[in-house]
Amino acid sequence: MKVIYPGSFDPVTYGHLDIIDRCSKSFDKVIVAVLNNNYKKNMFSVEERLNLLRETLKEYDNVEVDAFSGLLVDYANKRNCSTIIRGLRAISDLEYEMQMSLVNKKLEEDLETLFMVSRGKYSYLSSSIVKEVAMFGGKISCFVPKVVERALKEKMNGGQD
Ligand code: PNS
Repeated sequence: MKVIYPGSFDPVTYGHLDIIDRCSKSFDKVIVAVLNNNYKKNMFSVEERLNLLRETLKEYDNVEVDAFSGLLVDYANKRNCSTIIRGLRAISDLEYEMQMSLVNKKLEEDLETLFMVSRGKYSYLSSSIVKEVAMFGGKISCFVPKVVERALKEKMNGGQD
């Protein structure tokens, strides 16, 4: 069974990586799909986000990292995949996630969204929080892998510690 795990990944965190790791064990193939829509203001370009994901996921044989633009349902059709995975960190995520899943279902009846509950230890974690902590010089090594930490520091202050 092939699944798509879509997101902004701006940048990827240990929370995302935990979901991908668990998906790689439960499904034959995982496509990590990075949204490349201009209307979302991202810190990292789509190429940078793809590179960070590829670097952190290089050990996984059944995980592919790709970019998509436009509607997720169109991308899923193009990739011949009918299952979307989304992580749920808290009940507060559910409202938005349900809305997205129902819209996607309306657009494409065959598309299923499966929710994977985040591990408790990552339930507070988000890319936005990591960027905020990094912006004020806080310690981010517990939130993101080394390569992402370096990339964030470079964005913030040209790589100076
Ligand atoms: O990491 P994010 O930002 O929560 O991911 C959101 C994402 C990329 C899954 C969602 O915004 C998306 O699928 N965008 C593509 C446009 C689309 O299909 N919109 C209709 C469903 S709401």
